[in-house]
Amino acid sequence: MTFMHDLELYEIIKSFSGDLVALTGAGVSADSGIPTFRDKDGLWNRYRPEELATPQAFARNPELVWEWYAWRMRLIFDAEPNLAHKALALMEKVGLLKAVVTQNVDNLHERAGSRNVIHLHGRIDEMRCVECGNTVCLNEPPESIPPYCECGGMMRPNVVWFGESLPEKELNLAMELCRSSNVIVIGTSAAVQPAASLPYHAKRNGHFVIEINPDVTPLTDLADVSIRERAGKVFEMIYAILKEEEIR
Ligand code: APR
Repeated sequence: MTFMHDLELYEIIKSFSGDLVALTGAGVSADSGIPTFRDKDGLWNRYRPEELATPQAFARNPELVWEWYAWRMRLIFDAEPNLAHKALALMEKVGLLKAVVTQNVDNLHERAGSRNVIHLHGRIDEMRCVECGNTVCLNEPPESIPPYCECGGMMRPNVVWFGESLPEKELNLAMELCRSSNVIVIGTSAAVQPAASLPYHAKRNGHFVIEINPDVTPLTDLADVSIRERAGKVFEMIYAILKEEEIR
């Protein structure tokens, strides 16, 4: 585990020749003004997850849960992708990155231009009928809360709540990618399984693990390289180099 300058990081990223997957958490969107969960000003220090992000909470008080997600939707829809999102999208475009595997439910990777984004914990810009499974895309919070499906069933945010399984297709794809690629882990506390185990799959198969996080995490000792810096700052340099090369 070593600390390094972000220009050296760019040289390492190039050396992978595209054999690289990004695993992102809430920290990658922090520089867009989106609150994380476990930082000192994080969401789980202000709200109780069991009251807002579990199936039991939704069954008990769907209006409250929808009000909270509508508030988070407005935050996300009003936010802009930051340089980390944009650099990752450019890295994919020029063939330096295979995919983004994200724990985030925001759509900032897609809005930055990333095409191959795997959402392990669902998406806040979608809602799903609890009865028929009909899924609807959203670009603003639903007008009525709670919203209902044409079939009469209640709609729920299309996100993974505590105690629920991750989408199997996305999880299997993420595991397969991480087993066979170098991984750059950006902005996660590595506190939630199974996402937190993905970098170990890369390491166990002889691949390189890079971590970008202002704080130390349980992944820090596993990482070959750990950059104790904000993602927006680290990727500022990489984005500038890639933009420069794109213009040439
Ligand atoms: N750049 C990089 N990392 C950052 C930044 C930043 N600007 N700001 C904060 N961080 C780091 C924090 O140090 C922390 O380690 O991002 C991490 C955010 O951790 P969490 O808030 O726990 O978010 P995350 O790891 O994505 O949580 C995983 O838990 O509650 C569930 O479903 C939710 O997907 C979420 C999952």
